[in-house]
Amino acid sequence: CDYGGFHLKEHIKKYLTEKGIEIVDHGTYNEDSVDYPDFAEKLCKDITSGESGAERGILICGTGIGISIACNKVKGIRCALCNDTFSARMSREHNDANVMAMGGRVIGFGPAGDIVRAFLTTDFSQGERHMRRIEKMMALENK
Ligand code: RB5
Repeated sequence: CDYGGFHLKEHIKKYLTEKGIEIVDHGTYNEDSVDYPDFAEKLCKDITSGESGAERGILICGTGIGISIACNKVKGIRCALCNDTFSARMSREHNDANVMAMGGRVIGFGPAGDIVRAFLTTDFSQGERHMRRIEKMMALENK
């Protein structure tokens, strides 16, 4: 997260830890002003390199917009901006998103927990049409 997402990140960390889900926190660690692309990069590198073994990533900035745009510049990443549970569920079922972004200044702690749960518990549907679209989407990285 950046400073706009710091408080929500701390809440989500507590929420996941209580559920027994192992997490890796790539910062930021306080409310001092920082640049969200730096944190998007740290998380993306972890996911694409397999460095920590993390399967999914969650990014939070003020709106979720900047950090999701930054994240989607990294090869191999499919980041969905999800400020509601329906989007979180569909980002997994249809888009096989490996990273989700939220807006710390957009949503409250309660909805954020539901959104994270939907993102982490929903499987990709494996539908042929969805796979085809994802392949086309990822091919754009090399054009
Ligand atoms: C920081 O003020 C804010 O711009 C950032 O957190 C994010 O909302 C950008 O998209």
